[in-house]
Amino acid sequence: MQVSILTLFPEMFPGVLGSSLTGDALEKGLWNLNAINIRDFATDKHKTVDDTPFGGGAGMLMKPDVVEAALLSIPAHQRGKCLYMSPRGRPLTHAMALELADSPALTILCGRYEGVDQRVLDAYDFQEVSIGDYVLTGGELPAMVLLDAVLRLKPGVLGNKATHDEESFYDGLLEYPHYTRPANWLDKQGQTHHTPAVLLSGHHAEIRQWRQNEAEALTAERRPDLWEAYKQRKNNKITGQS
Ligand code: ADE
Repeated sequence: MQVSILTLFPEMFPGVLGSSLTGDALEKGLWNLNAINIRDFATDKHKTVDDTPFGGGAGMLMKPDVVEAALLSIPAHQRGKCLYMSPRGRPLTHAMALELADSPALTILCGRYEGVDQRVLDAYDFQEVSIGDYVLTGGELPAMVLLDAVLRLKPGVLGNKATHDEESFYDGLLEYPHYTRPANWLDKQGQTHHTPAVLLSGHHAEIRQWRQNEAEALTAERRPDLWEAYKQRKNNKITGQS
């Protein structure tokens, strides 16, 4: 996957994506990264990239002509889907990550200041994506979050397909709890914590059922929105609706 980042801070990349699985994948050439400095495309001697908003208001906006020039420096066939990280975008979900993982190329615009002039977003069909209902100082961390979620879905990045199949959101449920050795763990406060006996039983059908029950209970308790959607899908399956 060819990834182009449009940013005022190219030195932030690959950042965390340069370590661990995404870093190994980058080294192996499973994805390529091109971090483009938007400021290189400013045309005045002060290298101006922002200006005040028409109609007044606080803060500065990134100029459409400069953002456009940075975008057009990427050959059209290498741009793929154009995304703009913004708190007012569509919320990033596992389903969106799966869809983006199918794209051979992604171009991600990272805003700073109050944002970007609307016209360049419209003219080049940028899809706005949010990583949550909070405001960060810029789109660079959100771009990394999105890329981590997408890249781990690309073949060869995790190296173990089974991991995908049982993780949270694969089936619309949160993941059941996990335990490893020691089976009975004595903490430094003098408390012993036992592993649920069923997991030590070697009884695979019972283990599967226990995990399913745990995942359902956890989802119902923590995420009523996901739980309702899950039950709805189950019902539709039973009644044959899509
Ligand atoms: N830029 C600033 N805050 C953001 C958020 N929550 N999601 C995506 N981009 C952002």
